[in-house]
Amino acid sequence: MSALFSPLTIRGLTLRNRIVLSPMCMYSCENRDGMASSFHAAHLGARALGGCGIVMSEATAVLPNGRISLEDLGIWDDAHVGVLRPVTEAIRLGGAASAIQLAHAGRKAGTYRPWSKVRGFVPDSEGGITDRWGPSAIPFREGVPTPLEMSVEDIRVVVEAFAQAARRSDEAGFDIVELHSAHGYLLHQFLSPISNQRTDSYGGDWAGRTRIHHEVVEAVRDVWPAHKPLFVRISATDWIDGAWSLEDSVALAKSLMPLGVDVFDCSSGGSTMDAPIPSGPGYQVHLARGVREGSGMLSGAVGQITEPAQAEEIVASGSADFVFIGREMLRDPHWALKAALALEVEAPWPNQYAWSVG
Ligand SMILES: Cc1cc2nc3c(=O)[nH]c(=O)nc-3n(C[C@H](O)[C@H](O)[C@H](O)COP(=O)(O)O)c2cc1C
Repeated sequence: MSALFSPLTIRGLTLRNRIVLSPMCMYSCENRDGMASSFHAAHLGARALGGCGIVMSEATAVLPNGRISLEDLGIWDDAHVGVLRPVTEAIRLGGAASAIQLAHAGRKAGTYRPWSKVRGFVPDSEGGITDRWGPSAIPFREGVPTPLEMSVEDIRVVVEAFAQAARRSDEAGFDIVELHSAHGYLLHQFLSPISNQRTDSYGGDWAGRTRIHHEVVEAVRDVWPAHKPLFVRISATDWIDGAWSLEDSVALAKSLMPLGVDVFDCSSGGSTMDAPIPSGPGYQVHLARGVREGSGMLSGAVGQITEPAQAEEIVASGSADFVFIGREMLRDPHWALKAALALEVEAPWPNQYAWSVG
């Protein structure tokens, strides 16, 4: 019996195993219009054929000024729905559940893509983002653009944008929505006192800094079907004393669960370049365990999980309900199928590929 390959039902969705393609930006909307292309369908479809239980899209911007790079996927317009349908269809054909990560990059919006000859933020003169938003007018680091402090009306626009994006995600055929509140992007910027120094009701104490989360989750749940699961990716710690902590994350999980959040996907960091992050194999697993034990929420572990036995142990020991695999799945789209072979579990090899394993 493998814990990693045991099915799990959340609401109306049964997942064939606990392996998730972690959301990863592909920087591949060549026209900078957020439109999914056959690249996205081929890339995500391949990971579904490769045996994942869930295949999750990259951070998909709910507003144009919320793109991390200008080549990110978008879902801020009804015109995005039709081009996302072939993506969900490719994932479905591969036998996985399809998930979309909805995101706003806040003060970190509008960079060049990593393989561009130029680094950093795209200037206005080259079509960069002019209305870069943050909870406070504090830049991520010295030498990068200072965001505009969001008005309460801007916050209302963001909440509504997440809800509209969730509605479009349903229309495009996605099975799961994940809200991106990690890695120093907008929702995480509100959580962390490093980036949120507001003095109104969206800042200050824990209740103020988490207020937008409660509003976004309520607005999303109003339109996202009750039979479909809702995940939140969180940076479960800033790794800085006095900033966002695991205890804060546990409290947030407890308060969002009754509003209809099913899974906390536990990453970390991203609020500052100065955090002493102790990276190494499975370095964030204890965060998923802490959230799971402290709140009773289902959790996902991510970060340098590369070995089948390691992934099996994470689920079997009760540290997490899911393992999210990132870069290893870029190296090997069939990681999940090969993990099943390694763990001697009957694997969901597609009929077309079954010849290769006798
Ligand atoms: C190219 C690349 C793009 C990424 N884009 C996203 C993203 O869109 N959303 C997100 O939450 N994390 C993103 N991440 C982080 C991954 O999902 C994952 O958390 C991280 O790579 C650690 O897992 P790994 O060691 O298995 O790669 C990205 C990582 C990489 C390498």
